[in-house]
Amino acid sequence: MDKDFNGKIALVTGAASGIGKATAFLFADHGAKVVLSDIDDNEKKNLIKDIEERGGEAIFVKADVSKAKDCENLAKQAIDNFGRIDIAFNNAGIGGNMQAIADMSIEDWDKMIATNLSSVFYCMKYQIGQMLKQGSGTIINNSSILGSVGFAGAAGYVAAKHGVNGLTQNAALEYSAQGIRVNAVGPGFIKTPLLDENLDEDTKKILAEKHAIGRMGEANEVAELVLWLSSDKSSFVSGGYYPIDGGYLAQ
Ligand code: NAI
Repeated sequence: MDKDFNGKIALVTGAASGIGKATAFLFADHGAKVVLSDIDDNEKKNLIKDIEERGGEAIFVKADVSKAKDCENLAKQAIDNFGRIDIAFNNAGIGGNMQAIADMSIEDWDKMIATNLSSVFYCMKYQIGQMLKQGSGTIINNSSILGSVGFAGAAGYVAAKHGVNGLTQNAALEYSAQGIRVNAVGPGFIKTPLLDENLDEDTKKILAEKHAIGRMGEANEVAELVLWLSSDKSSFVSGGYYPIDGGYLAQ
């Protein structure tokens, strides 16, 4: 494995599971030191051990990204421990309940917007503060295919992910000239616990067939795109939204 991220500090939210975990491990494989963060710290020792066994180095910071204070503390812990934040993958998110708008509770809406949208604003606010001091940094926000199209029953999720794309564009406009590139990825349906917890087997089969490739994606396939967007190979890429969806959005 190329150690092309040697000396880089990569922060990943939602790193205890799914896409975040796969991406954190891939960063470590490529030589980055990783700041793992999640609201769930049950696996923190195992996560650090797994990364050390791969020859990497990591710390774990517990944070609920729906709380601004936690996001501020997360950035501070990264800086206190490693001195800088070169890469941030703002990935943590929830699937939420499937309900049409008239049936959706205000609590469900508020939780979705706080966890999947406000979180990205909070995280970027404190990451960018540090990146401006460094004069460099790359941020990748995890949106979704549902950041560009609707999905009946998922209004909160769809609205939040469309918001993530807008925030990404704005951050890129505000900071690209100061050395901070900001992009969003738009995964199709990816086999992670987020889907397992929210969908039955028949629905998963129907959804898999909506991808031109004829299957759902793997977390590691998304991780590869995040690493490219984080690397110097994508030096002219900022403000973009990159579907990684096996052709879902092509129809
Ligand atoms: P996952 O459920 O496997 O992992 C999500 C992680 O985020 C979990 O470890 C969870 O503890 C953490 N998390 C949840 N709420 C949090 C909070 N308030 N603060 C901090 N951490 C929190 O899910 P997956 O699939 O890996 O999702 C990661 C991201 O990818 C999410 O933003 C999701 O919307 C997005 N995504 C997932 C797709 C899929 O099909 N799995 C498709 C498109 C986007």
